Amino acid sequence: MEERNMDLSCLPGPLLAWFYENKRSLPWRQDKDPYHIWLSEVMLQQTRVEAVKGYYVRFLEKYPTIEALAQAEDEPLAKLWEGLGYYSRMRNLKKAAQVICREFGGQFPQSYEDVRKLPGVGDYTAGAICSIAFDQKTPAVDGNVLRVFSRLTNDATPIDSPGMKKKTAQFLQSIYPEQAGDFTQALMELGATLCGPNRKPDCQSCPCAGFCAAFAHNTAQELPVKSPKKSRREEDLTVFLLYCDGCYALEKREKTGLLAGMWQFPNAPGHLSPQQAVKYLTQRGYLVKEILRQVEKKHIFTHIQWNMRGFYICLEEKTDSFLWHTQEEIEQQISLPTAFRQFWLERDIFAGEFCDTP
Ligand code: ADE
Repeated sequence: MEERNMDLSCLPGPLLAWFYENKRSLPWRQDKDPYHIWLSEVMLQQTRVEAVKGYYVRFLEKYPTIEALAQAEDEPLAKLWEGLGYYSRMRNLKKAAQVICREFGGQFPQSYEDVRKLPGVGDYTAGAICSIAFDQKTPAVDGNVLRVFSRLTNDATPIDSPGMKKKTAQFLQSIYPEQAGDFTQALMELGATLCGPNRKPDCQSCPCAGFCAAFAHNTAQELPVKSPKKSRREEDLTVFLLYCDGCYALEKREKTGLLAGMWQFPNAPGHLSPQQAVKYLTQRGYLVKEILRQVEKKHIFTHIQWNMRGFYICLEEKTDSFLWHTQEEIEQQISLPTAFRQFWLERDIFAGEFCDTP
């Protein structure tokens, strides 16, 4: 891959024209309210557009303003985020809303520096908000944009190598048009659709084919290059769905680390056999009535994979060391991370049990 096209001054025209014709209608494209743009960009980090749509609408119904978000109670806020993952995003949203109320009188700040300082806001999010909401020439470089750019320039430098995002942003800034917000979104849109991940690039339909160096060299499919992935650490754990008198045992996780402060089903490190599970619980003062089912589930986080063995267990009596909640409470009030919710979906096993009757 010798030749790189770094003259992309012709990019904005055809890309914008294509965007205006082809952009998807998405809930966060209905207006330019910086609160809306901010929320959507935070939700869209690590999460697919289709998955975000419903969450975005429900969130704004419950917290229509920055003031409402700043005053949100933690449990209902977490409930609205349930299933989206990366829960620190949600905590930072509330913290940032409080900063905006305290330091900016509830008005979303407009300078890139002020926006960038808000909790949870990095270069990408600040660039996206300032360009999309305020039409400032502040690029927002995510994986989609890096893919497009590596192809346009036929650049085989690994996109995750140090400084790539900054270099790409600096270069893009030099060609930003007046329609900055549309240009930011057009780059993202191309990188999510025709030039998207996990698909053959559709160069026949691409507005940039005429000046794309990868298209010229027939290398689009080999780009972008990524550094070899570090393998995920695997952890085995045993999860207990403990049921008694119409209630399920829950507890809160530690305040730091993975899923910090979130709800969980009680669990133990390693894979316990049914006999070991009974012994483990008995030693802690729980009287096991019956193990109803054993299942194996997996959950993948960014750097860790959990291999979970679940036991559905009826206890003789409730103990004080857990918080006991009814099905209704768990469904309506408690935010249970997806790793644990998988077990919840099979709770029917408890229906009709003797211990089901209060
Ligand atoms: N991915 C990240 N930001 C996006 C946006 N604003 N629209 C569509 N996809 C996106």
